Amino acid sequence: MACATCHVIVAAEDAARLPPPREEEEDLLDMVPQATRTSRLACQIRLSAALDGLTVRVPGDRASRIGDCTLMPALAGS
Ligand code: FES
Repeated sequence: MACATCHVIVAAEDAARLPPPREEEEDLLDMVPQATRTSRLACQIRLSAALDGLTVRVPGDRASRIGDCTLMPALAGS
């Protein structure tokens, strides 16, 4: 099970700078109570110089936590 502890809300003006989420990411975000239309899982964002200055907000409570994470290792292996 993935955890979503890395849930972040990307600034609306920056959301289009990211590639679209994979299906696994979308499925997990569907279970995050605080998710918004610009929510992403930070562990799925591959940082690069092109994302310099990207603005994200970390939700203020632990409500995003769903369980143990398996999604992060999936990206690390790709
Ligand atoms: S889903 Fe990102 S750290 Fe678990």
